[in-house]
Amino acid sequence: MLSPRFLVLAAALCVSAQYPPPPALKAAQESANNTLNIPTESTLTDTTTIVDTARVVNQTGGAPTDDTPPGQPQASTIVTALDGVIVLSNISDSNSIDVPHGAGRRDLSDYELVFDGTPNDAAIIGTAYLTYTLVSNSSREQGTAECLDFCTKTDGCVFCNLYYELNNPFLDFVFPQKSNLKCVLYGDVHTAEEKTDYWNLQLIAQPNETTSISIQYSSGYASLATTERAPPEGYELVFGPISAANNALGYMGFAFLDKYDVSACAQLCNLRGPDPAAGACKYFNIWRAVVHGKPKTYTCAMYSAPLDASTATNTGQGPLSVSLSRGYRRISHIADGGFEDYTCQNDASFCFDDKAPGWVGTASVGGQDDATVFHYQPYAHSGASVGLLGCAFGRDPYAGTLTPAVSGKLLHGRKYVVQFFHSSTYSGEELEVSSFVDVYWNGEVAGSVRVGYSPWTYYEFIVEATGGGNDTLALRGGKAPAYDFIDDVYLFLHK
Ligand SMILES: *[C@@H]1O[C@H](CO)[C@@H](O)[C@H](O)[C@H]1NC(C)=O
Ligand SMILES: *[C@@H]1O[C@H](CO)[C@@H](O)[C@H](O)[C@H]1NC(C)=O
Ligand SMILES: *[C@@H]1O[C@H](CO)[C@@H](O)[C@H](O)[C@H]1NC(C)=O
Ligand SMILES: *[C@@H]1O[C@H](CO)[C@@H](O)[C@H](O)[C@H]1NC(C)=O
Ligand SMILES: *[C@@H]1O[C@H](CO)[C@@H](O)[C@H](O)[C@H]1NC(C)=O
Ligand SMILES: *[C@@H]1O[C@H](CO)[C@@H](O)[C@H](O)[C@H]1NC(C)=O
Repeated sequence: MLSPRFLVLAAALCVSAQYPPPPALKAAQESANNTLNIPTESTLTDTTTIVDTARVVNQTGGAPTDDTPPGQPQASTIVTALDGVIVLSNISDSNSIDVPHGAGRRDLSDYELVFDGTPNDAAIIGTAYLTYTLVSNSSREQGTAECLDFCTKTDGCVFCNLYYELNNPFLDFVFPQKSNLKCVLYGDVHTAEEKTDYWNLQLIAQPNETTSISIQYSSGYASLATTERAPPEGYELVFGPISAANNALGYMGFAFLDKYDVSACAQLCNLRGPDPAAGACKYFNIWRAVVHGKPKTYTCAMYSAPLDASTATNTGQGPLSVSLSRGYRRISHIADGGFEDYTCQNDASFCFDDKAPGWVGTASVGGQDDATVFHYQPYAHSGASVGLLGCAFGRDPYAGTLTPAVSGKLLHGRKYVVQFFHSSTYSGEELEVSSFVDVYWNGEVAGSVRVGYSPWTYYEFIVEATGGGNDTLALRGGKAPAYDFIDDVYLFLHK
């Protein structure tokens, strides 16, 4: 929009000797140099640690044979490893909000027999054990129907292992069902290879008793339902299920979960502390690790970069194969928070404007170019475009306001988090003393950045939505020659 002649004129008018050239002029002067931006430090997916940890983690289990009564609610999802360290910690409330009831309802024809039982048999010892119940042992048909029904009604159940357990006094004498037909539910499908010689391993109820627990007719049924679950609140499904995991920059670490729990993974992403160079977790990749054909663990890999399927290239290592890989991106309500949709005509490396896709810059009364969007890579935190507060030509000391369009439906009364990177190094330590940014939410100051001279730093502020499409965000600041650069602005649902 601004001609080179105008730039030269402005240079003659307003650059005083002790000030550095203002951003508009410096970019105009240097853009011909084709300056290379140093890429933001970023980490690649640490596949080695993921595989090494998968080697040692043991998440298999089955129904207890002790006094644990049947029909217990399934335990909350557990993190079994975090960033390569074996841990055991609950994730509270996972799955409680976003799984609509009735979604994926199945009837009995929606199951297939995976394996049948034998007179001398064993129970499955596998991953993602959910809970068990006792079903009627008057007839196998009746018991099977009751078991599949129990699975259908249990959130996350995709597989049941049905077997008779003999010589367990709790089944024979204690529990009111008075049935030895055990129906064990899992959140993953298992095969006959996962039957374990379990009566030899289990502690025998009474060491002095001659009889011990034995298993008969252990069969497995898998759900055929293909209904895709709703994504966790605040996220959208980007791809999947496919048999390849992301291998990409912007990696923030991983957790192993004891079951394939997308909501738990979202919660870990939300709670993960921001990367100082790349900001908050904006994406996760959840996948199932299968080793020698047996499910082993469920990986939740977190990323500061909003990835897609293009980097999903890791299909496994050695005996470990990747399956059920899905990518979920955190939904930002700022359409182009990185300003990257703003580019120059004819592929020029420098231009700026007070209007950009999804952004409007407003000058103070009596000021001009106080809030602008620059396409000029050396100024940007990431990519090649960036927002600038403070008169681009250094002509006036007034603050400018950058206003993004807030997109999508915000939920009334819910908390959101505004995140961005800020830099105020442009004019040097002395002149940047009065740099500032005020964050306005619905017309009121929700937070401020008053740090004087400061390199690119991550900030976040919590705001509350009124909803109804009425919420507004504005970033006001700059006091040339104190300049405030803003990049990578996100507005996420806060949890
Ligand atoms: C390249 O940048 C330097 C300052 O870094 C400047 O002196 C020089 O004039 C620039 N060259 C061109 C062609 O703009
Ligand atoms: C894993 O744990 C289960 C249950 O505690 C046990 O039965 C099984 O032997 C263990 N597997 C390995 C490979 O350690
Ligand atoms: C998880 O929470 C349950 C119930 O609060 C508790 O019984 C269990 O011990 C916890 N497990 C872990 C690994 O913290
Ligand atoms: C059903 O289970 C109970 C409890 O273990 C047992 O006493 C009974 O004999 C079983 N009935 C049949 C028909 O197997
Ligand atoms: C078997 O052991 C239990 C305790 O372990 C004991 O109470 C019981 O008396 C023992 N029965 C016999 C027959 O020794
Ligand atoms: C949003 O604004 C519209 C008018 O533009 C108004 O009718 C509506 O009540 C407002 N909603 C909220 C939640 O303030």
